Amino acid sequence: MSMQTLLTGATFETTGNPMTAPWQDVVRINTSGAVLIENGRILAVGDAEALRAAHPTAEHTDYGNRLICPGFVDAHAHYPQTAMIASWGKQLIDWLNSYTFPEEMRFADPDFARETSARYLDLITAHGTTTVCSYTTVHPASVDAFFEAALQRGMAVVAGKTCMDRNAPDGLRDTARSAYDDSSALLARWHGKDRLRYAITPRFSPTSSPEQLAAMGALWAENPDCLMQTHLSEQPGEIAWVAELFPQARDYLDTYEAHGLLGRRAVFGHAVHLTAREKDRLAETGAALVHCPTSNTFIGSGLMDVAGLAARRIPLGLATDTGGGSSFSMLRTMAAAYEIGQLRGTALHAAQLLWLATAGSADSLHMGDEIGRLAPGMAADLTILDLASTPAIAQRHARAGDIWEAVFPTIMMGDDRAIADVWIGGRRTPPWQAAAISNPGGQAP
Ligand code: GUN
Ligand code: ZN
Repeated sequence: MSMQTLLTGATFETTGNPMTAPWQDVVRINTSGAVLIENGRILAVGDAEALRAAHPTAEHTDYGNRLICPGFVDAHAHYPQTAMIASWGKQLIDWLNSYTFPEEMRFADPDFARETSARYLDLITAHGTTTVCSYTTVHPASVDAFFEAALQRGMAVVAGKTCMDRNAPDGLRDTARSAYDDSSALLARWHGKDRLRYAITPRFSPTSSPEQLAAMGALWAENPDCLMQTHLSEQPGEIAWVAELFPQARDYLDTYEAHGLLGRRAVFGHAVHLTAREKDRLAETGAALVHCPTSNTFIGSGLMDVAGLAARRIPLGLATDTGGGSSFSMLRTMAAAYEIGQLRGTALHAAQLLWLATAGSADSLHMGDEIGRLAPGMAADLTILDLASTPAIAQRHARAGDIWEAVFPTIMMGDDRAIADVWIGGRRTPPWQAAAISNPGGQAP
């Protein structure tokens, strides 16, 4: 028999979507729960006592009052923007031209791409994120570097070559033809290798000619099991520019649909300013939207209507949008989603926020059969939260009246110090977390 690992603690368990069903019906925390792991996968989830008795030889780690969650899933990020996160004072198009494109230029050097990939994946792991769906740069080597680094770490990631053939500086443009050829070769090299998946990635309509969008649509039609990711309706000025660039289009979404880039496996970042027609079309096609709350406030984009879109049954994921977003932390991202919900009149519950950061994001990436839930058969990608990780959080946690009140301060105030441990594919990640585990967590409510 192969070696089994038993983790005991509080377990975050979901059986449905708390954005469309009452959260109390589909999410619970078992304060004396357990997760049994074998061969990199979850074999069982249940009560600590019962699983301990049934599996006495399993190697046991007791996390006490800490919360065992599915690893966080960041459904939209730009790993090449790691080093220019928190760049001051610009809105979207100026921000791209002033900060983003010059930084992405550096990725012409494959060594820089390798170094940034490694640093980025180590940073997000330290923040409890075990899967990311990332953009790269226009350079094919930026894709190779990222997938190689993820492969080495055993991570399930999605990425694709960022395609852009206009409205970008020299050295940062491809063509319709080269975007098709390079994307096709990268897709063949990486899609389905170990835990890696390829996403066809036209950056957004302003930087792709109609010919390039059509080439991406053709590639997607040839590879329908791939995701297609891009940006949609982030800022009013951007939307006005899209209307000028595509005079025939009914709206922003139509610039994608007209070129074969709308479907169930499409994943659109932002979607802050949607028309009624766009919402109808999204709901009809089953495409997913990704909420990027720290980015939408940081770049000044606006407040996504999360509750309204969820009510339309549009699949929703949650994301940092690093480095347009201002944090690598999905905890900080959940806090920003809560704040935006408040500004729009809907207080998202801790159960909904944690669901969006795990199962919701996983489902939006069509990876819900592998990651995002504590359930038998799922990959053992886990993030263990210390619910009293700083003095400020600990004193609030001590006052909590129930388990959800014990969790919410960590969502609102937590950062990488709350990440007690991370498991990827059934293996505890080295070595930055070693100190945290010997440091006792807070008291149960
Ligand atoms: N739209 C097109 N490219 C980008 C990007 O890199 N970040 C954000 N936030 N929006 C974009
Ligand atoms: Zn983005």
